[in-house]
Amino acid sequence: MTSFSPRVFSGVQPTGNLHLGNYLGAIAQFVPLQDRMPTIYCVVDLHAVTAKFEPEHLARTTREVTAAYLAAGIDPKKAIVFNQSQVKEHAELAWIFNCVARMGWLSRMTQFKEKAGKNRENASVGLFAYPSLMAADILAYRATHVPVGDDQKQHLELTRDIAQKFNNDFAERIAQLGLGVPNPTPSPELPDELYFPLTEPIIAGPATRIMSLRDGTKKMSKSDPSDLSRINLRDSAEEIAKKIRKAKTDPEPLPSEEEGLAERAEAANLVGIYAALTGGTKADVLRDYGGQPFSVFKPALADLAVSKLAPMADEMNRLLADPATIDAVLKDGAERAGAIAEPVLKDVRAICGFLDVR
Ligand code: TRP
Repeated sequence: MTSFSPRVFSGVQPTGNLHLGNYLGAIAQFVPLQDRMPTIYCVVDLHAVTAKFEPEHLARTTREVTAAYLAAGIDPKKAIVFNQSQVKEHAELAWIFNCVARMGWLSRMTQFKEKAGKNRENASVGLFAYPSLMAADILAYRATHVPVGDDQKQHLELTRDIAQKFNNDFAERIAQLGLGVPNPTPSPELPDELYFPLTEPIIAGPATRIMSLRDGTKKMSKSDPSDLSRINLRDSAEEIAKKIRKAKTDPEPLPSEEEGLAERAEAANLVGIYAALTGGTKADVLRDYGGQPFSVFKPALADLAVSKLAPMADEMNRLLADPATIDAVLKDGAERAGAIAEPVLKDVRAICGFLDVR
């Protein structure tokens, strides 16, 4: 190989209800990339078991994320769509990366600190090692680009640190075995030839950071006890309209300029949702609705949300009524993914020097 070929990898966890934040912050970005380069979209079920989970629900939630991918417009003939547990190379590479990553690096991950909370002693080792599995997801395909929400930036930096340490620690063997790719961005800290690329995040614009409808300072989340705080991808038109009607706001009309949203988290969030659903900017929305009260803006937002989301919900429901078809998509995807990851793991075993007797 003379250079890393462009490849996109991303993943969504199959934990509970998918909501508007998952769609606008992640899945919606995946769709246009499938026409620009090879893409791999994974349902990361091995990540879903790092915290408490219900074995009885895992198959259903895995199919739900798959249905959301397809309903959003991901074409499984173009993109590879599969669930992580079916390609064993993820777990194998994650183990190697557990031995490359340092305790100190993982201890600094804010997502771990948040999810483990006060009771760190009782968090699973898997939750701590979560980012090395994520690095393995990406690097088992030597993926060059990863579209993710802004909250995953730190995990992508860690992925680069792991790739870089692997490239450095094994530089001599990578060169000896003829497995290196010329470093596309030469630097004094890096060897001339790399095995793993230094993967770049593709971060969605700020309008795609979707906040709770009940509290504009908190992210929209599937774990929020109030269902009114989020719009689920499978909510009916009535539910969507009701949640937007009840969304927390302030008594002022919308400002005409974006600066006017600065101290108004809830107003900013609703304007951001409108912008993201139309693919425009907050400034565009305020050009149309500046000076209008929420009694005008909310019904317009509800109509827009219903027109975008209801067809997707219908398509998800249609797909989920036929699990065999979803499973066939995942099976085909797992075979295509395995065909890429298998030779990578063969290289990695050779680079690490494992005795190969088979
Ligand atoms: N950690 C990601 C999230 O919570 C999910 C994920 C797992 C992922 N592996 C990945 C995202 C690889 C991108 C690439 O959103």
